[in-house]
Amino acid sequence: MNREDFNILSSNIIYFDNAATSLKPNSVIDAMNDYYNNYPANIHRGDYDISLKASNKYEEAREEVAKFINADKDNIVFTSGTTDSLNKIIFGYFNDHLTLEDEVLTTKAEHASLILPLFNTKARIKYIPLDNNYHLTVDNVIKSITPNTKVIALAYVTNIVGDIRDIKAIIKYAHEHNILVIVDAAQAVSHIKIDIKDLDIDFLAFSAHKMLGPTGVGVLYAKKELLEDTLPIIYGGDMNANFTSDREVTYNSLPSRLEAGTPNIAGVIGFAEAIKYINKLNNVLEYEKDLRDYLISKLKTNPNITIYNEVSDTGIVIFNYNNIFSQDLAVYLDKYNICVRAGSHCTKLFVDELGVKNTVRISLSFYNTKEEIDKLIEVLNNPNIEKEII
Ligand code: ALA
Repeated sequence: MNREDFNILSSNIIYFDNAATSLKPNSVIDAMNDYYNNYPANIHRGDYDISLKASNKYEEAREEVAKFINADKDNIVFTSGTTDSLNKIIFGYFNDHLTLEDEVLTTKAEHASLILPLFNTKARIKYIPLDNNYHLTVDNVIKSITPNTKVIALAYVTNIVGDIRDIKAIIKYAHEHNILVIVDAAQAVSHIKIDIKDLDIDFLAFSAHKMLGPTGVGVLYAKKELLEDTLPIIYGGDMNANFTSDREVTYNSLPSRLEAGTPNIAGVIGFAEAIKYINKLNNVLEYEKDLRDYLISKLKTNPNITIYNEVSDTGIVIFNYNNIFSQDLAVYLDKYNICVRAGSHCTKLFVDELGVKNTVRISLSFYNTKEEIDKLIEVLNNPNIEKEII
């Protein structure tokens, strides 16, 4: 599907690390080059034509993002990525709203960018058990809630097993019990449509670079009253209207108040193109699931391979090859120009669920093909694989 839109796919690289970052279509790169070549000015500060153009493009991108998740544009804060967004949510809002008695519910399948900021709040952290496929059931969420639960913090889709959580049901139940929900949508946005109003999302974080956009750009969305109550954790230009030597500061209104400093202007402009590109795609998840089924069926023919997440909802597959350390296998695959990720995938608590610390991860996208999977299988079925690794 659409492989000609990605220059790198005309090389002999097989890119199976899409959960780490997606490839970028030419239209995204062209939009960023256009900014740097033709109107490379700062935004919101210049009274001249190319600065006004840059400001307009930046704000048009905000509208594009807002439409993409059915939000109002003033509730869209540009950040440097999901990690930055989650830190801004947790330190900017929850630091002031959580006490030692409060409890945050999460799981051991969450990414470091969610877990580590939570570690730095006063609240107790409780891990909701996962089922036998390492999926999160609504029932287990409900059973884990206590009168002290104030927040549930979860990925919509995990980067480790690729399961899609029933965020709508979880949020509904949470709200009935006065619990706020933080949704890490980093792995979700490129596969499933997110409508913040339909899901009734309180706080949402995602990155451009996992959805065909550039690195260094992300989004923090929050409901108006929550965003109003979120303190900046970074102070500087563009977020203030005035300050005096007596330390009297007037901050700008949202979203500028949470966007101190010169942002990644080219990145935001490229991000808008990525969204336009995604809006034109159809049946991405079905295609990826079909590829995933094909990959699983092929991997299963090799008795040396253990697949850990045979049942899942998106194109993520984690596995190991007998006696071969996951990183060694990744380096071996790289000799054949196949890019995969190996290790703990930033979900270091997941070892408590899986019993295995490191795995090889394949994460598929709509531009991957069955032919690429055949090549991978051929390389994994090489009878000399162990010798080649030693
Ligand atoms: N969070 C990214 C991944 O899953 C980096 O690989």
